[in-house]
Formats: sequence, C-alpha cells, structure tokens
Amino acid sequence: MRETIKTLLEEFRREIASAITSSDLEHIRIKYLARKGQIAMLYESLRDVPASEKPSVGKEINQLRDSVQSELDAKREEIESTRVQSVSKIDLSLPGRPKPIGTKHPITQTIDAIKLIFARMGFSVADGPEIESDYYNFEALNFPADHPARDMQDTFFVEKDVVLRTHTSPVQIRVMENQQPPVRVIIPGRVYRNEAVSTRSHVLFHQIEGLYVDKGVTFSELKGTLVSFVKQFYGSDVKYKFRPTFFPFTEPSADMYISCFICSGKGCRVCKFGGWLEILGSGMVHPNVYNFVGYDPEVYSGYAFGMGIERIAMLRYGIDDIRLFFENDVRFLRMF
Ligand code: PHE
Repeated sequence: MRETIKTLLEEFRREIASAITSSDLEHIRIKYLARKGQIAMLYESLRDVPASEKPSVGKEINQLRDSVQSELDAKREEIESTRVQSVSKIDLSLPGRPKPIGTKHPITQTIDAIKLIFARMGFSVADGPEIESDYYNFEALNFPADHPARDMQDTFFVEKDVVLRTHTSPVQIRVMENQQPPVRVIIPGRVYRNEAVSTRSHVLFHQIEGLYVDKGVTFSELKGTLVSFVKQFYGSDVKYKFRPTFFPFTEPSADMYISCFICSGKGCRVCKFGGWLEILGSGMVHPNVYNFVGYDPEVYSGYAFGMGIERIAMLRYGIDDIRLFFENDVRFLRMF
C-alpha cells in the first residue's frame, strides 16, 4: 500500500511537470481528485488494510491528497501568471503594418477628370447596357439595315439583332426616349469592336458620349463647349480645328483635332508627323434620330459628340501600348 502511494505521487509529479495549459491541469485534477479518481480508490482500498495499520496508512493518503491539491494550485498559478506575462510582451509602441491600398485605374481617373469638366458646364451623367439590340446600336441612330456605314464598326454579335455595343451612342436614344428636352448628359462606358488587338486598338475600350438637345441649340454652341473642354483638359494654349466627316446620326458632322502637345505641332511620332491629333467625333443630331425618339425636329435641335478614353489617356500620360490598360500589371498601375 505504501508503495502504491509513493508511485502515485511520483506519477502525479511527472504529469504536472509536463502540464502546459490549464486544461492539462484539469485533466490531472480529475484523474487524481475526482470522486472516482486515484485517491478515492486508495481510500476505498483502506478497507483491506489490517486494522493496526489503518491510522498511519490513512494519514499517508491524507498527506498525498493534500500535496496533490496544493501542487495543483501552485501549478495553476504559475500557468496563469505566464499567460499574463506573454500578453504584456506585446509592444504597443511598434508602428502598424501598412495595408497596401489600391488607386484608381488611369482610365477611371481620365473619365473622372472629363466628367468633372462637363459637370461644371451643366451636364449630368447617364449610362446604359453593354449588350444592346440592333435597334439601339444602329437602327434608331439612322443606320438602316444593310447600310454600308455599319461596316465602320466591326461588330461582335451575341445573336441575331443582339450586339455588344460598338459605341456609347445607343444610350443617346435611351435617354431621349425617357426624357423630354432639355437634355444635357454625358455617358461614359465600355464599348466593343471586333478588331485585331495591337498597340493602338483593342476589342474593348471606353468612350464618353455627350448629348445636348433643346430649343435652338446651334453648331457654334457645340464648338464653344468642345473648345472650352479641350482648353480645360489640355491647357488654354492648345490649338484646335474641326474637319468635316460623316456619321449617320449627325448632320453636319465634324472631327475635332488638337495641336500635338508632345511636339507643339512641329511633328513627332505621336502625331505621326502631322502636328495634329484627332480626339473626338461630333455633330448636330440628325432629324431622323428625333423621329425615332418622338422629338419634333422642327422644334428641337442639339449636338452630340463621342471620344475614346484610352486614346485620350494614352496621349495624356504618354503611354504607347493600349494593351497595358487591360493587363492590370501592378507595376503599370502603380505609376498613376
Ligand atoms: N459614336 C461615334 C463613334 O463611335 C462617335 C460620335 C458620337 C460621333 C456622337 C458623333 C456624335 O465613332
């Protein structure tokens, strides 16, 4: 019996020495001190001890129980105090680890800058779907079926009469269908063209459309608005010119050019040695378009314009490959 008490105490001490957490301690406590634990068993086997030895053996078991209890308590205190210590080892004076935050994509930045200029001139912002019906992308913009002007825009077809919009102009129609003049909106968004991808062209790019319709809007207001825009965007000494062109949905139509701001018009690689850069298409809204949306062309007139954002951003930042905008290489994006 005495042997058993001794080995039990040794076993207990080995276990408690290797205990690390308070749940280790709890297991040990249950093993020894619980109602059916090792020590309770000892008390039970006291029955078989000869009466003469009972008092002394009983005393030894009592001592064992007391040691187990007090050593458990001591160990518990030790574990709890190291926990407090390790918490207090956190150095609150260390600077935080900065989380990298993103920046706006250069295309978004360019759109924002253009939006701001037009917002100050009284334009609000509209948008529309990128998957468009033939009606909005072509028909209502005065591209009749089989009209050769449709070939100007290499179109991705989703199915018959459903296309990925080739320009933001269909949103002109949607806005006019939903609103009576005066209408003064700009429409930024993605457009799609089925073209070979190269340094200068991509199947996906962005445009900003502008539309102003009211009573008595004139071509000189179109010019005035666009001249004011390029002066704010490119600087007040920028030179500009308008050149006649053709769009089915505007008449007359004009492309706007600005003097190359890389070489100030002397001729360089960017302007292909011509000194001028084409930056947008524009014109007076064609009367046929008003008929599609139910505006009276005898009462209202207006202008529209559309510009490619990538081209403007490439010129603005001196980027020579349009594909960089869509690769999301952080080394590129970090430069803006
Ligand atoms: N939608 C034309 C294009 O993509 C641009 C344009 C818009 C021209 C509005 C005139 C008026 O080329």
